[in-house]
Amino acid sequence: MAILVTGGAGYIGSHTCVELLNAGYEVVVLDNLCNSSEKSLDRVKQITGKDVKFYKGDILDRDILQKLLETEEIESCIHFAGLKAVGESVAKPWEYYSNNISGTLTLVDEMRKHGCKNIIFSSSATVYGDPAMIPITEECPKGTCTNPYGWSKSMLEQILSDMQKADPEWNVILLRYFNPIGAHKSGLIGENPNGIPNNLMPYITQVAVGKLKELGVFGNDYDTPDGTGVRDYIHVVDLAVGHVKAIDKLKENVGLGIYNLGTGVGYSVLDIVKNFEEATGVDIPYSIKPRRPGDIATCYSDATKAKEEMGWTAQYGIKEMCADSWNWQKNNPNGYDE
Ligand code: NAD
Ligand code: UFG
Repeated sequence: MAILVTGGAGYIGSHTCVELLNAGYEVVVLDNLCNSSEKSLDRVKQITGKDVKFYKGDILDRDILQKLLETEEIESCIHFAGLKAVGESVAKPWEYYSNNISGTLTLVDEMRKHGCKNIIFSSSATVYGDPAMIPITEECPKGTCTNPYGWSKSMLEQILSDMQKADPEWNVILLRYFNPIGAHKSGLIGENPNGIPNNLMPYITQVAVGKLKELGVFGNDYDTPDGTGVRDYIHVVDLAVGHVKAIDKLKENVGLGIYNLGTGVGYSVLDIVKNFEEATGVDIPYSIKPRRPGDIATCYSDATKAKEEMGWTAQYGIKEMCADSWNWQKNNPNGYDE
């Protein structure tokens, strides 16, 4: 039996493939490579010394899903495939809803037709909107999203929960990620954004490597200790291990499970700059810019539930997250491009 990893060539997917293979699982990846490179899977094989079966294709394509589900013995699916750029989703809502929502509906329809009713879904802390409580527990009510990307996650949580309620043979785990950064210790796989990065850490590493001049800090007048936005950064390897734990949890016939994956600690933008400089010895010039529309002041998790129910806690601290992000960027200044 194997685990189907949709979007397995991407940033979180490739790290999760490594942890699954290390835990002894067989892995089948389905990815259309719209935001990734097949080279990441070669690197996964290099790191683990194990093979990954790769299907290049789209989760909207029923033919390839049927072929895959008829050929492979899939016990569970970890569903990462989706578009994730917040700003782009505002400009292209149809493309985001079509890819993320229609894609997931097609995937789960083919899964149930082939008798596979176990799924782990990549959700996000974005579903909490401007959170009603800090730290954020899973009991915190979902909020108003500020963009179509966030709504696609919130709606898919609802859709998968309703399907599970109607058909208790389904086991559904919704994992709400906080802010994944870092890279595998080997420096062979990591985050590879297209164009100018939107997210903080890839922006910082591109300043560090000399591709960008300075970091713009989006606002220093928030109600936080130093006025800059506070987030719960989590090492991508910890996040990947969380998926292996969630696979174990699915086997308990969990029904519906919802878990935050975060560290429970919040760092401001300036904390990250300082920690990055200390961990790497590289200076990060920055200037204060206006607030970015849609941003909130503070977002960090209460990670107790994942610990109590899945036996998972984050192991890596902020210095390792910074050092590992830098190790990947400096060894691969152009990502997977030569
Ligand atoms: P990523 O872009 O690196 O990985 C997503 C992968 O899905 C890519 O390899 C892409 O080619 C593939 N893909 C997209 N649409 C597809 C389709 N229709 N068919 C087949 N493959 C398709 O992104 P990531 O950072 O690894 O994120 C993985 C998942 O986690 C996404 O669903 C994302 O929304 C979610 N998430 C990410 C973050 C984050 O900060 N990185 C935070 C919360 C949630
Ligand atoms: N920031 C800057 N300058 C930059 C980029 C970011 O100051 O160049 C600040 C932001 O204003 C924010 C913090 O750094 O205060 C983190 O910003 P990111 O863009 O890295 O992350 P977000 O918390 O805005 O959002 C991310 C993902 C979302 C996901 C969310 C929660 O982009 O998709 O984490 O998981 F939903």
